Amino acid sequence: MLALARQRLGDGVVLERAELGGPLPFADAGFDDVVASLVLHYLEDWTTALAELRRVLKPGGRLIGSVHHPFVSHLTAPPGTDYFATRSTSQWWELGGTKHLMTFWDRPLHAITDAFTAAGFRIDVISEPPPGPGARERFPEIFAQRESGTFLCFLFFVLTKT
Ligand SMILES: C[S@@+](CC[C@H](N)C(=O)[O-])C[C@H]1O[C@@H](n2cnc3c(N)ncnc32)[C@H](O)[C@@H]1O
Repeated sequence: MLALARQRLGDGVVLERAELGGPLPFADAGFDDVVASLVLHYLEDWTTALAELRRVLKPGGRLIGSVHHPFVSHLTAPPGTDYFATRSTSQWWELGGTKHLMTFWDRPLHAITDAFTAAGFRIDVISEPPPGPGARERFPEIFAQRESGTFLCFLFFVLTKT
């Protein structure tokens, strides 16, 4: 993602990568944007991560990201699972030829939006985006099944530091 960002933005832009969950090694109010793409759902506690992301953003800076869609997590959970609980689920994933036990933290939609606003962000966009340009030509079998071609998978958001 950093390589793609570099390609799109050119050499004159500072790009950093960081571990979420503890203090970030950056000064206050230094960044225009933070991207947290498909990462927050690995964390049980979002309070520290969101506070730190907000701290390093300039006033009016944006947190742009995505998480597992909470409806998918619920639809694929065992019968009787409490949608309204924040709960961990684990799955074995094969990555680079070895199996890894992946643990995610599922939470209901309101817990996601409440965490954002409690951390001092305004929610500008909550999105379930349609397929990108060219998807219909590349994956005609999916569009044959349903006209939108969209599958329920991730929830995307754009937040602004208030
Ligand atoms: C499903 S991948 C998403 C990769 C990429 N960001 C994307 O959107 O395609 C999950 C990523 O989250 C990263 N990750 C997991 N826990 C993290 C944490 N506490 N801080 C930063 N990154 C983390 C993993 O290293 C991995 O690259």
